Amino acid sequence: MEANIVLLPGDGIGPEVVGEAVRVLEHVASRYGHTFRFSERLMGGCSIDRYGAALTDETLADCQAADAVLLGAVGGPKWDDPLAKVRPEQGLLGLRKGLGVFANLRPVRVYPELVGASPLKPEKLAGVDLVVVRELTGGLYFGQPKGRDVVDGHTRAVDTLEYQDFEIERIVDLAFRLAQGRRRKLTSVDKANVLESSRLWRQVAVQVKERYPEVELSHMLVDTASMRLVTSPASFDVVVTENMFGDILTDESSVLAGSMGMLPSASLATQGPGLYEPIHGSAPDIAGRGIANPIGTILSAALLLRYSFKLEAEPAAIESAVEKSISAGCRTADLGGSLGTRAMADEILRRIA
Ligand code: IPM
Ligand code: MG
Repeated sequence: MEANIVLLPGDGIGPEVVGEAVRVLEHVASRYGHTFRFSERLMGGCSIDRYGAALTDETLADCQAADAVLLGAVGGPKWDDPLAKVRPEQGLLGLRKGLGVFANLRPVRVYPELVGASPLKPEKLAGVDLVVVRELTGGLYFGQPKGRDVVDGHTRAVDTLEYQDFEIERIVDLAFRLAQGRRRKLTSVDKANVLESSRLWRQVAVQVKERYPEVELSHMLVDTASMRLVTSPASFDVVVTENMFGDILTDESSVLAGSMGMLPSASLATQGPGLYEPIHGSAPDIAGRGIANPIGTILSAALLLRYSFKLEAEPAAIESAVEKSISAGCRTADLGGSLGTRAMADEILRRIA
């Protein structure tokens, strides 16, 4: 196949990890006879420095016209002033909204060899294989009104948690479909004892369930879920939840995998290109040193091939090469090893069948 991929390496370790994922994609392309054309654009802090905006209209248009978008990470101390008018994260949110990628899939799997890298007891980690489906274009991140004003001499800041029924319906439906192809267990996470938006969420989830009689649906409050994710993580199959709950729960879930550096993500729209990115951030503390773990981005590239290009053998080959490299003891610094970013990617590359 032939495809155009826009690369948004971003800030911090973003360019380092994206560079390695591109090498993997190029390798796969030559092995399997595909042509992937890459074009690189600025997004995040680097785009603020160059254009004064975290995401320019041109870059968004280029992403919309692509077959898929691969992103590294955005942000860093340089752009962290809370009073700044432009922030790197605005670029990421604008991109998600602009691409309409409402479904963020964050699979969490535990490699048996990495059980020791997690602070959790090994017996808790046996059999962990879950996917968090995070709603990505609504909720607290985007609800209006949002902003500041002055009321009776006091500065007030407002964020709004808003969902419409159709936004809940499409994400829950996607989660049900995913669960159907897995262990058929869906946990819908909300805060229905307090939030009206969560009560609507629950109601819609129950309606959608009628279309999926073979999938077991349970509801769990987000505070309980945050506890159960570490006390009985293997009990989860597919988890579906609101944007910010999903943001928080997926960082928590990464602890199961031993390192944030391991986890990929896929953000999907009803139509148009998907957006693929590791769940970790720009890690300014280690940026430029060539020691970041490239696996989260390499596995994101595998998800890109699976979800956007509908390939099967190719992503499976990448995932199996990652697995074999881990089994062979290859480790970057975040996992207590000494391999650099490039060396880790080389280990994976040479194991791609
Ligand atoms: C993530 C990140 C982003 C988010 C930030 C960088 C805006 O934490 O992808 O999880 O909150 O969505
Ligand atoms: Mg996050």
